[in-house]
Amino acid sequence: MNERIKILADRLAKDHFLEKSEYLEIIQNSDKEEREYLAALARAERERHYGRDVYIRGLIEISNICKNDCYYCGIRASNKNCDRYRLTKEDILACCDEGYALGFRTFVMQGGEDGHFTDEFLVELLGGIKSRYPDCAVTLSLGERSRESYARLKEAGADRYLLRHETSDPEHYGLLHPESLTLANRLKCLRDLRELGYQVGCGFMVGSPYQTDEMLAGELEFIGQFKPDMCGIGPFIPHKDTDFRDFKAGSVDLTCLLLSCIRLIHPTVLLPATTALGSLEEGGRERGILAGANVVMPNLSPASVRRKYMLYDNKLSDGAESAQAKAALEERMRSIGYTVVVSRGDAKNNQ
Ligand code: 5AD
Repeated sequence: MNERIKILADRLAKDHFLEKSEYLEIIQNSDKEEREYLAALARAERERHYGRDVYIRGLIEISNICKNDCYYCGIRASNKNCDRYRLTKEDILACCDEGYALGFRTFVMQGGEDGHFTDEFLVELLGGIKSRYPDCAVTLSLGERSRESYARLKEAGADRYLLRHETSDPEHYGLLHPESLTLANRLKCLRDLRELGYQVGCGFMVGSPYQTDEMLAGELEFIGQFKPDMCGIGPFIPHKDTDFRDFKAGSVDLTCLLLSCIRLIHPTVLLPATTALGSLEEGGRERGILAGANVVMPNLSPASVRRKYMLYDNKLSDGAESAQAKAALEERMRSIGYTVVVSRGDAKNNQ
């Protein structure tokens, strides 16, 4: 074992903080043994706050229509090969009914930036979900909106909001997105959401085009400063209908190493083992949990649309990833010593 990395890992577990240059050392000099050491520290930290419970979220992909043209994303506006769909209010409520019966107590409504989802539409939808299921948390993941809109949705019952920042380096942000999108606005949205009282999630892709190790060290620093309630990270996976089709996918090992670091930097963060992690490697989500993650987000979308929400090639959509396969997921988690629980799974005190 690299002694220097062990010293840094121990200090990170104790202080929940390292300098950016030290994060870089960990990223660049961790091999299997060092990664496993960090994962063991991360598991211990996570158990201190969340035990061995795994929280589940029912993910409802409400529309793949998007006005944005992010260069990495399979549902980008300019992709003519994407078969577009949008769920109705009734469709979405039916997903919640099914999810509730399966034991989900958080519903995540995610979609492209689809103008159809006006505040009026969403306020009514939130009212419908909250009146039927007052014991459930509702998470929105619908991209950038105005502060006023976020405020109205909060008022209508939304509890949480996921908005990945994708990269905290403004130049890198510009290499991944068209000019209409800026890191400054993304960060303003995250700040607005937090001020409005949402539990807020940010996050980034690992191994996205043009990303450097220094940038990843910067992401760890960013997480330590922003201290999101939730943090979604997963490997970049190329999509054949994007300009990034020929870039290679991010690594599962590196993603797991970063999950462990994030758990140690911010012990109470809700950290999903993402679909992208499971899509890239059989058993990827289990590896994420063993690296310090404590959330999984099975797919609750209607079976007829699942294959259409293709953010990247070979995205898992049914089988092991579906909400209906919850028994199989429970068994997978049990096999590694963890328990899927029926709970809203809110963040423990954000410290
Ligand atoms: N590979 C991995 N993740 C992707 N996302 C979008 N496209 C890809 C891709 N090609 C992620 C983005 C977005 C989330 C919904 O999915 O980080 O925020």
